[in-house]
Amino acid sequence: MTEDTTHRIPRHTTRIVLAERPHGTPTAATFRTEEAELPAPADGELLVGHRYISLDPYMRGRMSAGKSYAAPTPVGDVLPAETVSEVLESRHPDFAPGQLVVAYGGWQSAAVVPGAHARAVAANGLPASTALGVLGMPGFTAYAGLAEIGRVREGETLVVAAAAGPVGATVGQLARAAGARAVGIAGGPRKCAYLVEDLGFDAAIDHRSEDFGERLAAA
Ligand SMILES: NC(=O)c1ccc[n+]([C@@H]2O[C@H](COP(=O)([O-])OP(=O)(O)OC[C@H]3O[C@@H](n4cnc5c(N)ncnc54)[C@H](OP(=O)(O)O)[C@@H]3O)[C@@H](O)[C@H]2O)c1
Repeated sequence: MTEDTTHRIPRHTTRIVLAERPHGTPTAATFRTEEAELPAPADGELLVGHRYISLDPYMRGRMSAGKSYAAPTPVGDVLPAETVSEVLESRHPDFAPGQLVVAYGGWQSAAVVPGAHARAVAANGLPASTALGVLGMPGFTAYAGLAEIGRVREGETLVVAAAAGPVGATVGQLARAAGARAVGIAGGPRKCAYLVEDLGFDAAIDHRSEDFGERLAAA
């Protein structure tokens, strides 16, 4: 389905850039908010407005200059992120205005992105944000990690760290579906309750609790 989006094509984006490289935990001084002009999309490009921005652990690595599998974000550049975005203007034959896509749109309100790097959000009746979570990169990481490497079997017990995040939550649920016991580790009572009551983990342990070792052994 397409719609006339010409009346709401933005000419500017509000973006969050890396103001300085953090030492340890990032602070407000790590970031700066600014307005920037958006170029008109060239052949093969899309102008998109972001609906959802995914905040993922890999971003902390990009803020540092250290050696990594990906190049660091230059100081002054917009922080990278996958986004679920609405196509507002398309110069790529596979996409039309009004369509929702997953793009590498960054920490900002709108962007011009290459159509070749975008993919349509599946029309599956689920919330579009799931394309950044369980049906996106984290869910795929969980599936590939468990199916290809972990290979959990029925009757085994699987312990999942960072279990309340999108990767761990998916790993635990896949393990349960495979007939295994899932034990999750998370920070705080609310996350632990979420693991057991909402996601169906067999047990959850707060890594901040004093008797963490004993509770893990018991579970
Ligand atoms: N190789 C890949 O392709 C790939 C892809 C995606 C993700 N990953 C990795 O998989 C892991 C989970 O990803 P996710 O997206 O699901 O993460 P996430 O849960 O959204 O965030 C990371 C979680 O780690 C926990 N944590 C434990 N110790 C921490 C500490 N010292 N500082 C900060 N957080 C701490 C926190 O949860 P609690 O408060 O509950 O402890 C935090 O929420 C991450 O290590 C990520 O880098 C790898």
